[in-house]
Amino acid sequence: MVFLREHAGPPIAPNDPVLYERLADEWWRPRGRFAMLHWLAAARAELVPPASRPGAVLVDLGCGGGLMAPHLRGKGYHHLGVDRSPSALRHAAAHGVLAVRGDVLAVPLRDGCADVVAAGEILEHVEDLPRAVAEACRLLRPGGLLVLDTLADTALCRALAIGVAERVPRMAPRGVHDPELLVNRAELARECARHGVRLQVRGIRPSLPGVAAWIAGRRDSVPMVPVASTAVLFQGRGRLSEGARRPVRDAVTVAEEV
Ligand SMILES: C[S@@+](CC[C@H](N)C(=O)[O-])C[C@H]1O[C@@H](n2cnc3c(N)ncnc32)[C@H](O)[C@@H]1O
Repeated sequence: MVFLREHAGPPIAPNDPVLYERLADEWWRPRGRFAMLHWLAAARAELVPPASRPGAVLVDLGCGGGLMAPHLRGKGYHHLGVDRSPSALRHAAAHGVLAVRGDVLAVPLRDGCADVVAAGEILEHVEDLPRAVAEACRLLRPGGLLVLDTLADTALCRALAIGVAERVPRMAPRGVHDPELLVNRAELARECARHGVRLQVRGIRPSLPGVAAWIAGRRDSVPMVPVASTAVLFQGRGRLSEGARRPVRDAVTVAEEV
């Protein structure tokens, strides 16, 4: 399947990693093609408490250009970002993220290295959800926190997040999502529980007055607000049960920097 182009180069399939290379210069443009990722990164960072110990580590799976970085500043974490896109990692590193090239389905970091694992807008891009969840949970220390946001595998989500958002200029790049990979919420909760994380979820959406002001050029960012339904875009948060696994050495010592 191919899609209409809004970037240079021949048509590519949905969720093709090449998209991120073609749109590499968009990461840090607040009114660019990844604008909504900025809003989501801010909302995700709000779920992260200040670090509870010196040397705490936050592993950002599928970190992209490192958009969480400014929102984590001052919270006391070493911010490690894992991504397979070289250009995205270069942007992340330029914003202070310790950038690690790798696949979120086989993360090159040790068990229990993370106080927090963030999986923002990544689970709906992977071919193997159970594997991605297992990796995220494997990285957590006992008591560590998993925060995530993703898109639900529902007809409403396909209509809004793909059918509409990918056609509104600058909302989401055309073809960034493969409808086949949207996330089954029950499966996500089940896989998290299987690995010791009881996930709590809530639906979110961009504030409508915020979007109107953003479209009108009156503001560069839009707050995300909670909604009753998790049927489109949702956040998840849960801690790895204490005693689930022994802590190991800091990830920083084992990360392979880009
Ligand atoms: C939609 S972007 C989200 C980026 C970032 N989490 C954010 O919210 O700003 C998805 C990112 O996941 C990366 N990605 C997709 N599949 C991946 C995989 N299997 N392993 C590592 N990175 C992956 C892409 O390169 C891209 O940077």
